[in-house]
Amino acid sequence: MSRAYNFCAGPATLPESVLRQARDEMLDWRGTGMSVMEMSHRSKDFVQIADAAEKDLRELAGVSDDYAVLFMQGGASSQFSTIPLNLLGEKSSADYVNTGIWSKKAIAEARRYSTVNVVASSEESGFTTIPDQSSWQTSADAAYLHYTPNETIGGLEYDFVPESPGVPLVADMSSTMLSRPVDVSKFGVIYAGAQKNIGPSGLVVVIIRKDLLGKARKETPTMMNYQVIADNGSMYNTPATYSWYLAGLVFKWLKEQGGVKAMGEINLRKARKLYDFIDTNEFYANPIDPRFRSWMNVPFTLADDALNGDFLKGAGDRGLLNLAGHRSVGGMRASIYNAMPEEGVDALIAYMTEFAKERG
Ligand SMILES: Cc1ncc(COP(=O)(O)O)c(C=O)c1O
Repeated sequence: MSRAYNFCAGPATLPESVLRQARDEMLDWRGTGMSVMEMSHRSKDFVQIADAAEKDLRELAGVSDDYAVLFMQGGASSQFSTIPLNLLGEKSSADYVNTGIWSKKAIAEARRYSTVNVVASSEESGFTTIPDQSSWQTSADAAYLHYTPNETIGGLEYDFVPESPGVPLVADMSSTMLSRPVDVSKFGVIYAGAQKNIGPSGLVVVIIRKDLLGKARKETPTMMNYQVIADNGSMYNTPATYSWYLAGLVFKWLKEQGGVKAMGEINLRKARKLYDFIDTNEFYANPIDPRFRSWMNVPFTLADDALNGDFLKGAGDRGLLNLAGHRSVGGMRASIYNAMPEEGVDALIAYMTEFAKERG
Protein backbone atom coordinates (compact mmCIF):
# COMPACT_ATOMS: atom_id res chain seq x y z
CA MET A 1 0.00 0.00 0.00
CA SER A 2 1.29 3.48 -0.75
CA ARG A 3 -0.10 6.68 0.69
CA ALA A 4 -0.25 9.76 -1.50
CA TYR A 5 0.37 13.29 -0.27
CA ASN A 6 -3.17 14.61 -0.34
CA PHE A 7 -3.34 18.41 -0.49
CA CYS A 8 -7.15 18.53 -0.53
CA ALA A 9 -8.76 21.45 1.33
CA GLY A 10 -11.33 19.14 2.89
CA PRO A 11 -12.07 16.38 3.46
CA ALA A 12 -8.35 16.44 4.05
CA THR A 13 -5.51 14.12 4.86
CA LEU A 14 -5.65 12.49 8.30
CA PRO A 15 -2.68 11.29 10.35
CA GLU A 16 -1.67 7.88 9.06
CA SER A 17 -1.30 6.46 12.56
CA VAL A 18 -4.90 7.48 13.31
CA LEU A 19 -6.15 5.66 10.23
CA ARG A 20 -4.12 2.59 11.17
CA GLN A 21 -5.54 2.58 14.68
CA ALA A 22 -9.06 2.97 13.32
CA ARG A 23 -8.39 0.05 10.98
CA ASP A 24 -7.04 -2.12 13.80
CA GLU A 25 -10.06 -1.32 15.96
CA MET A 26 -12.60 -1.51 13.14
CA LEU A 27 -14.10 -4.94 13.83
CA ASP A 28 -13.56 -5.20 17.54
CA TRP A 29 -13.12 -2.13 19.68
CA ARG A 30 -11.07 -3.22 22.69
CA GLY A 31 -12.65 -6.61 23.17
CA THR A 32 -16.26 -5.45 22.89
CA GLY A 33 -16.74 -7.61 19.79
CA MET A 34 -18.08 -4.68 17.80
CA SER A 35 -17.01 -1.64 15.83
CA VAL A 36 -17.46 1.82 17.36
CA MET A 37 -19.80 2.36 14.42
CA GLU A 38 -22.10 -0.33 15.80
CA MET A 39 -22.22 0.82 19.41
CA SER A 40 -25.14 2.49 21.08
CA HIS A 41 -24.31 6.10 21.70
CA ARG A 42 -25.71 5.59 25.21
CA SER A 43 -23.38 2.68 25.95
CA LYS A 44 -20.72 3.01 28.63
CA ASP A 45 -18.03 2.41 26.01
CA PHE A 46 -19.15 5.11 23.64
CA VAL A 47 -19.77 7.63 26.41
CA GLN A 48 -16.19 6.99 27.51
CA ILE A 49 -14.94 7.62 23.95
CA ALA A 50 -17.00 10.81 23.70
CA ASP A 51 -15.92 12.14 27.10
CA ALA A 52 -12.25 11.47 26.36
CA ALA A 53 -12.50 13.36 23.06
CA GLU A 54 -14.03 16.37 24.78
CA LYS A 55 -11.49 16.28 27.58
CA ASP A 56 -8.57 16.10 25.13
CA LEU A 57 -9.97 18.91 23.00
CA ARG A 58 -10.40 21.09 26.09
CA GLU A 59 -6.82 20.39 27.09
CA LEU A 60 -5.42 21.00 23.60
CA ALA A 61 -7.29 24.22 22.93
CA GLY A 62 -7.24 25.48 26.53
CA VAL A 63 -11.03 25.54 26.94
CA SER A 64 -12.16 26.46 30.47
CA ASP A 65 -15.31 25.34 32.30
CA ASP A 66 -16.91 28.65 31.33
CA TYR A 67 -17.43 27.12 27.89
CA ALA A 68 -19.54 24.23 26.63
CA VAL A 69 -18.06 22.00 23.93
CA LEU A 70 -20.63 20.63 21.49
CA PHE A 71 -20.21 17.92 18.86
CA MET A 72 -22.88 18.85 16.34
CA GLN A 73 -23.78 17.80 12.80
CA GLY A 74 -24.48 19.46 9.48
CA GLY A 75 -20.98 20.83 8.93
CA ALA A 76 -19.85 24.39 9.43
CA SER A 77 -22.45 25.62 6.92
CA SER A 78 -25.31 24.71 9.26
CA GLN A 79 -23.70 26.99 11.84
CA PHE A 80 -24.16 29.93 9.48
CA SER A 81 -27.85 29.85 10.47
CA THR A 82 -27.43 28.29 13.92
CA ILE A 83 -25.37 31.28 15.06
CA PRO A 84 -27.94 34.02 14.34
CA LEU A 85 -30.84 31.87 15.54
CA ASN A 86 -29.13 31.39 18.89
CA LEU A 87 -27.33 34.65 19.44
CA LEU A 88 -29.57 37.41 18.11
CA GLY A 89 -31.88 37.33 21.13
CA GLU A 90 -33.74 40.64 21.28
CA LYS A 91 -31.23 42.35 19.00
CA SER A 92 -31.98 43.00 15.36
CA SER A 93 -28.52 43.25 13.85
CA ALA A 94 -25.20 41.47 13.77
CA ASP A 95 -21.75 42.61 12.61
CA TYR A 96 -19.80 40.61 10.02
CA VAL A 97 -16.37 41.04 8.44
CA ASN A 98 -16.20 40.08 4.77
CA THR A 99 -12.85 38.61 3.80
CA GLY A 100 -13.83 36.01 1.23
CA ILE A 101 -16.16 33.31 0.05
CA TRP A 102 -16.81 31.73 3.45
CA SER A 103 -17.50 35.11 5.07
CA LYS A 104 -19.96 35.83 2.28
CA LYS A 105 -21.80 32.58 2.81
CA ALA A 106 -22.08 33.26 6.53
CA ILE A 107 -23.35 36.78 5.81
CA ALA A 108 -25.93 35.59 3.28
CA GLU A 109 -27.36 33.12 5.76
CA ALA A 110 -27.45 35.62 8.63
CA ARG A 111 -29.38 38.06 6.40
CA ARG A 112 -32.27 35.61 6.50
CA TYR A 113 -32.72 36.38 10.20
CA SER A 114 -31.46 39.90 10.83
CA THR A 115 -29.88 43.03 9.54
CA VAL A 116 -26.25 42.35 8.81
CA ASN A 117 -23.73 45.17 9.06
CA VAL A 118 -20.68 44.38 7.01
CA VAL A 119 -18.25 46.29 9.21
CA ALA A 120 -15.28 45.83 6.91
CA SER A 121 -14.58 44.14 3.62
CA SER A 122 -11.53 43.38 1.52
CA GLU A 123 -13.60 42.55 -1.55
CA GLU A 124 -12.22 45.52 -3.48
CA SER A 125 -8.70 44.12 -3.17
CA GLY A 126 -9.92 40.76 -4.46
CA PHE A 127 -9.77 39.46 -0.87
CA THR A 128 -6.00 39.64 -0.75
CA THR A 129 -5.73 41.38 2.60
CA ILE A 130 -7.47 41.91 5.96
CA PRO A 131 -8.86 45.43 6.48
CA ASP A 132 -7.09 47.30 9.25
CA GLN A 133 -9.11 47.05 12.42
CA SER A 134 -9.05 50.80 12.95
CA SER A 135 -11.35 51.11 9.91
CA TRP A 136 -13.99 48.63 11.11
CA GLN A 137 -17.43 50.14 11.69
CA THR A 138 -18.44 47.89 14.58
CA SER A 139 -21.41 48.61 16.78
CA ALA A 140 -21.90 48.03 20.49
CA ASP A 141 -25.58 47.33 19.69
CA ALA A 142 -24.85 44.36 17.46
CA ALA A 143 -25.75 40.94 18.81
CA TYR A 144 -22.27 39.66 17.97
CA LEU A 145 -19.26 40.19 15.70
CA HIS A 146 -18.55 37.35 13.26
CA TYR A 147 -15.35 36.77 11.30
CA THR A 148 -13.55 34.01 9.43
CA PRO A 149 -10.02 33.64 10.82
CA ASN A 150 -8.88 31.63 7.80
CA GLU A 151 -10.47 31.88 4.37
CA THR A 152 -9.86 28.38 3.08
CA ILE A 153 -10.44 29.21 -0.58
CA GLY A 154 -8.55 32.49 -0.78
CA GLY A 155 -5.70 31.44 1.52
CA LEU A 156 -6.12 34.56 3.67
CA GLU A 157 -5.58 34.31 7.42
CA TYR A 158 -5.79 36.81 10.28
CA ASP A 159 -2.64 37.15 12.33
CA PHE A 160 -4.59 38.79 15.15
CA VAL A 161 -7.77 38.26 17.12
CA PRO A 162 -10.11 41.21 16.53
CA GLU A 163 -11.24 43.39 19.42
CA SER A 164 -14.99 43.35 19.73
CA PRO A 165 -16.80 46.36 21.22
CA GLY A 166 -18.23 44.42 24.17
CA VAL A 167 -20.23 42.01 22.03
CA PRO A 168 -19.49 38.27 21.68
CA LEU A 169 -16.83 37.49 19.11
CA VAL A 170 -17.82 34.58 16.86
CA ALA A 171 -15.27 32.78 14.69
CA ASP A 172 -15.54 30.24 11.90
CA MET A 173 -12.33 28.36 12.63
CA SER A 174 -13.06 25.51 10.23
CA SER A 175 -9.68 25.61 8.56
CA THR A 176 -7.46 26.95 11.33
CA MET A 177 -8.74 25.22 14.47
CA LEU A 178 -5.92 23.53 16.42
CA SER A 179 -3.28 24.64 13.90
CA ARG A 180 -1.78 27.22 16.25
CA PRO A 181 -2.46 28.45 19.78
CA VAL A 182 -5.55 30.64 20.26
CA ASP A 183 -6.81 32.35 23.41
CA VAL A 184 -10.31 30.87 23.62
CA SER A 185 -11.32 33.27 26.39
CA LYS A 186 -11.52 36.09 23.83
CA PHE A 187 -14.40 34.37 22.02
CA GLY A 188 -18.11 33.96 22.53
CA VAL A 189 -18.40 31.14 20.01
CA ILE A 190 -15.83 29.19 18.00
CA TYR A 191 -17.06 26.68 15.46
CA ALA A 192 -15.21 24.41 13.08
CA GLY A 193 -16.22 21.86 10.49
CA ALA A 194 -14.15 18.79 11.27
CA GLN A 195 -12.85 17.77 7.87
CA LYS A 196 -9.60 19.74 7.93
CA ASN A 197 -7.82 19.46 11.25
CA ILE A 198 -10.23 17.39 13.32
CA GLY A 199 -11.67 14.35 11.54
CA PRO A 200 -14.33 13.28 9.05
CA SER A 201 -16.76 15.71 7.44
CA GLY A 202 -20.26 16.28 8.75
CA LEU A 203 -19.15 16.74 12.35
CA VAL A 204 -18.85 20.31 13.58
CA VAL A 205 -17.25 21.27 16.86
CA VAL A 206 -18.73 24.26 18.68
CA ILE A 207 -17.12 25.94 21.69
CA ILE A 208 -19.58 28.36 23.27
CA ARG A 209 -19.38 30.54 26.36
CA LYS A 210 -22.04 29.21 28.70
CA ASP A 211 -23.70 32.58 29.32
CA LEU A 212 -24.64 32.64 25.62
CA LEU A 213 -26.74 29.50 25.92
CA GLY A 214 -30.49 29.72 26.34
CA LYS A 215 -31.09 32.72 24.09
CA ALA A 216 -32.34 30.88 20.99
CA ARG A 217 -35.27 32.33 19.09
CA LYS A 218 -38.55 30.51 19.57
CA GLU A 219 -38.60 29.20 16.01
CA THR A 220 -35.09 27.69 16.26
CA PRO A 221 -35.18 24.04 15.20
CA THR A 222 -34.51 21.86 18.24
CA MET A 223 -31.44 20.34 16.59
CA MET A 224 -29.97 23.81 16.17
CA ASN A 225 -30.63 24.98 19.71
CA TYR A 226 -27.30 25.19 21.53
CA GLN A 227 -28.97 24.92 24.94
CA VAL A 228 -30.70 21.67 23.97
CA ILE A 229 -27.49 20.22 22.54
CA ALA A 230 -25.51 21.29 25.63
CA ASP A 231 -28.13 19.94 28.06
CA ASN A 232 -28.02 16.59 26.31
CA GLY A 233 -24.25 16.21 26.08
CA SER A 234 -24.50 16.53 22.26
CA MET A 235 -26.71 13.43 22.29
CA TYR A 236 -30.18 14.88 21.88
CA ASN A 237 -30.37 12.66 18.82
CA THR A 238 -27.95 10.02 17.61
CA PRO A 239 -24.67 11.86 17.20
CA ALA A 240 -22.12 11.18 14.46
CA THR A 241 -20.52 8.53 16.65
CA TYR A 242 -17.80 7.29 14.34
CA SER A 243 -16.68 10.80 13.40
CA TRP A 244 -16.61 11.71 17.08
CA TYR A 245 -14.44 8.66 17.80
CA LEU A 246 -12.06 9.53 14.95
CA ALA A 247 -11.85 13.13 16.14
CA GLY A 248 -10.86 11.72 19.53
CA LEU A 249 -8.05 9.73 17.91
CA VAL A 250 -6.85 12.87 16.12
CA PHE A 251 -6.84 14.78 19.43
CA LYS A 252 -4.72 12.03 21.05
CA TRP A 253 -2.35 12.18 18.06
CA LEU A 254 -2.09 15.95 18.43
CA LYS A 255 -1.19 15.58 22.09
CA GLU A 256 1.54 13.10 21.13
CA GLN A 257 2.94 15.66 18.68
CA GLY A 258 3.37 18.12 21.54
CA GLY A 259 0.00 19.88 21.29
CA VAL A 260 -1.06 23.00 19.48
CA LYS A 261 2.01 25.06 20.26
CA ALA A 262 4.37 22.48 18.77
CA MET A 263 2.00 22.03 15.84
CA GLY A 264 1.96 25.79 15.25
CA GLU A 265 5.75 25.82 14.99
CA ILE A 266 5.73 22.98 12.46
CA ASN A 267 2.90 24.60 10.49
CA LEU A 268 4.71 27.93 10.33
CA ARG A 269 7.85 26.18 9.11
CA LYS A 270 5.92 24.28 6.42
CA ALA A 271 4.10 27.40 5.23
CA ARG A 272 7.24 29.58 5.21
CA LYS A 273 9.10 27.00 3.13
CA LEU A 274 6.39 26.92 0.51
CA TYR A 275 5.82 30.70 0.36
CA ASP A 276 9.58 31.36 0.26
CA PHE A 277 9.87 29.00 -2.67
CA ILE A 278 6.92 30.61 -4.49
CA ASP A 279 8.33 34.10 -3.90
CA THR A 280 11.76 33.22 -5.21
CA ASN A 281 10.69 31.27 -8.29
CA GLU A 282 9.42 33.52 -11.06
CA PHE A 283 7.23 30.80 -12.50
CA TYR A 284 4.90 30.81 -9.45
CA ALA A 285 2.94 33.55 -7.70
CA ASN A 286 0.73 34.04 -4.65
CA PRO A 287 -1.36 37.22 -4.54
CA ILE A 288 -1.97 37.51 -0.79
CA ASP A 289 -0.58 40.29 1.39
CA PRO A 290 2.42 38.48 2.97
CA ARG A 291 1.30 39.43 6.48
CA PHE A 292 -1.98 37.57 6.04
CA ARG A 293 -0.94 34.50 4.13
CA SER A 294 -2.64 31.38 5.38
CA TRP A 295 -0.57 28.76 7.17
CA MET A 296 -3.07 26.14 6.10
CA ASN A 297 -4.11 26.86 2.49
CA VAL A 298 -1.53 28.06 0.02
CA PRO A 299 -2.97 29.14 -3.33
CA PHE A 300 -0.58 29.75 -6.19
CA THR A 301 -0.67 30.32 -9.93
CA LEU A 302 1.66 29.24 -12.69
CA ALA A 303 3.10 31.83 -15.08
CA ASP A 304 1.00 30.28 -17.84
CA ASP A 305 -2.50 28.98 -17.05
CA ALA A 306 -2.37 26.78 -20.13
CA LEU A 307 0.10 24.59 -18.22
CA ASN A 308 -2.25 23.93 -15.31
CA GLY A 309 -3.44 20.59 -16.69
CA ASP A 310 0.10 19.34 -17.27
CA PHE A 311 1.15 20.52 -13.82
CA LEU A 312 -1.68 18.62 -12.17
CA LYS A 313 -1.07 15.49 -14.22
CA GLY A 314 2.64 15.43 -13.38
CA ALA A 315 1.81 16.02 -9.72
CA GLY A 316 -0.69 13.17 -9.75
CA ASP A 317 1.91 10.84 -11.30
CA ARG A 318 4.14 11.59 -8.31
CA GLY A 319 1.41 11.01 -5.72
CA LEU A 320 0.86 14.73 -5.05
CA LEU A 321 -2.91 14.91 -5.16
CA ASN A 322 -5.73 17.45 -5.14
CA LEU A 323 -3.68 20.53 -5.95
CA ALA A 324 -6.28 22.19 -8.20
CA GLY A 325 -7.52 25.49 -6.79
CA HIS A 326 -11.17 25.91 -5.81
CA ARG A 327 -13.45 25.91 -8.85
CA SER A 328 -14.40 29.53 -8.16
CA VAL A 329 -10.82 30.86 -8.29
CA GLY A 330 -8.79 28.42 -10.41
CA GLY A 331 -5.02 28.10 -10.21
CA MET A 332 -3.56 25.77 -7.61
CA ARG A 333 -3.97 25.38 -3.89
CA ALA A 334 -1.94 23.26 -1.51
CA SER A 335 -3.71 22.66 1.78
CA ILE A 336 -1.12 21.79 4.39
CA TYR A 337 -3.09 21.06 7.53
CA ASN A 338 -1.68 19.52 10.71
CA ALA A 339 -1.64 16.02 9.25
CA MET A 340 0.38 16.97 6.15
CA PRO A 341 3.92 15.90 6.98
CA GLU A 342 6.77 18.29 6.24
CA GLU A 343 8.06 15.69 3.75
CA GLY A 344 4.88 16.29 1.73
CA VAL A 345 5.72 19.98 1.42
CA ASP A 346 9.31 19.09 0.48
CA ALA A 347 8.07 16.70 -2.20
CA LEU A 348 5.75 19.38 -3.58
CA ILE A 349 8.56 21.96 -3.73
CA ALA A 350 10.85 19.44 -5.45
CA TYR A 351 8.19 18.80 -8.08
CA MET A 352 7.45 22.52 -8.54
CA THR A 353 11.17 23.18 -9.01
CA GLU A 354 11.43 20.48 -11.63
CA PHE A 355 8.28 21.58 -13.46
CA ALA A 356 9.37 25.23 -13.61
CA LYS A 357 12.78 24.21 -14.92
CA GLU A 358 11.32 22.03 -17.65
CA ARG A 359 8.32 24.09 -18.67
CA GLY A 360 8.98 27.60 -17.42
C1 LIG B 1 -13.89 28.48 6.52
C2 LIG B 1 -14.96 27.50 6.15
N1 LIG B 1 -16.20 27.68 6.63
C3 LIG B 1 -17.21 26.84 6.33
C4 LIG B 1 -17.00 25.74 5.54
C5 LIG B 1 -18.16 24.84 5.20
O1 LIG B 1 -18.00 23.63 5.86
P1 LIG B 1 -18.99 22.42 5.64
O2 LIG B 1 -18.74 21.93 4.27
O3 LIG B 1 -18.58 21.47 6.73
O4 LIG B 1 -20.37 22.93 5.81
C6 LIG B 1 -15.73 25.50 5.01
C7 LIG B 1 -15.51 24.33 4.15
O5 LIG B 1 -14.52 24.12 3.51
C8 LIG B 1 -14.69 26.40 5.33
O6 LIG B 1 -13.46 26.21 4.84
